[in-house]
Amino acid sequence: MSINFSEDAGESITTTVSLPEDAAEGSLRPRTLTEYIGQEKAKGNLEIFIDAAKLRREPLDHVLLHGPPGLGKTTLAAVIANEMGVNMRITSGPAIEKPGDLVAMLTNLNEGDILFVDEIHRLNRAYEEILYPAMEDFAIDIILGKGPSANSIHLDLPRFTLIGATTRSGQLTAPLRDRFGVALRLELYTPEELQRIVQRSSGILNVAIEPEGAYEIASRSRGTPRIANRLLRRVRDFAQVKGDGIITKEIADRALSRLEVDKLGLDALDRRMLRSIIDYYNGGPVGLDTLAATINEEAVTLEDMYEPYLLQQGFLTRTPRGRCVTRRAYEHLGIAQLGQQQLEI
Ligand code: ADE
Repeated sequence: MSINFSEDAGESITTTVSLPEDAAEGSLRPRTLTEYIGQEKAKGNLEIFIDAAKLRREPLDHVLLHGPPGLGKTTLAAVIANEMGVNMRITSGPAIEKPGDLVAMLTNLNEGDILFVDEIHRLNRAYEEILYPAMEDFAIDIILGKGPSANSIHLDLPRFTLIGATTRSGQLTAPLRDRFGVALRLELYTPEELQRIVQRSSGILNVAIEPEGAYEIASRSRGTPRIANRLLRRVRDFAQVKGDGIITKEIADRALSRLEVDKLGLDALDRRMLRSIIDYYNGGPVGLDTLAATINEEAVTLEDMYEPYLLQQGFLTRTPRGRCVTRRAYEHLGIAQLGQQQLEI
């Protein structure tokens, strides 16, 4: 058996995009709020709203979940459905290609059901208007035909809960955003929370892991459970082939270094992004589009998937004139910052 530890077999190991291999993540997903680790603020609020809705025997108010990718928005929606004891139907903004797709989803719901719309900011603006009366009055008006012979029919819907998920709440139109009674922001996880997630996942996957091994993976997972669970699987391979199957701190460190995930979880693209700002723009400021063109990546990829962690870790700042690297970035990359010029240390 050979294992490919090279950095990039199509996608980077630290991407927050869901990869085919993450399909196995299903079994790792928590099913209840008690099992769900982290996001204490969002969970605390949800607990109250869920209990209150259950007491009143009403569906939960519509919920908007926003935050960087990979933090468990779909998982949390499924937890909410489970806690409410209702079914959840899943779709996404880009999957709704025509108004009929949305009407079909809405009319197939049962009383109390949850409709989960991932990437809701990518829903066609023209179809949003179907959602307004659906969310507010649990009804839709369908127009049949065109011109003078057009007919409108009014359809009542079951009372349902819409859960919208987005990485970019700023891109939602105000009328849509205003129709969500509850808006919860998911934050990057702390290393301690990710350590607990890695330990829980190891238990489910039957992997022997020492607490320090779990912490090593956690602290290099850029605050994201999806990455932590993916790195856990790769480190497990390494522990089985190169060690005795137990994930220790040393095994985790060796495996992650081979995967080019550094001590703070930065991958090759993070480092390339920071280096380009230093090498070509003297540390910044540089506009996002210019930077994206320089390193041949999409601006949205940098903004949604790379920046949140670099900002949180204090490697990058956003200014009105563009992105700047910080002293910490120079230090981490081992580049001296000497006035206008840099020297490699
Ligand atoms: N697996 C992925 N995300 C999780 C979370 N927030 N809590 C527990 N297990 C998880």
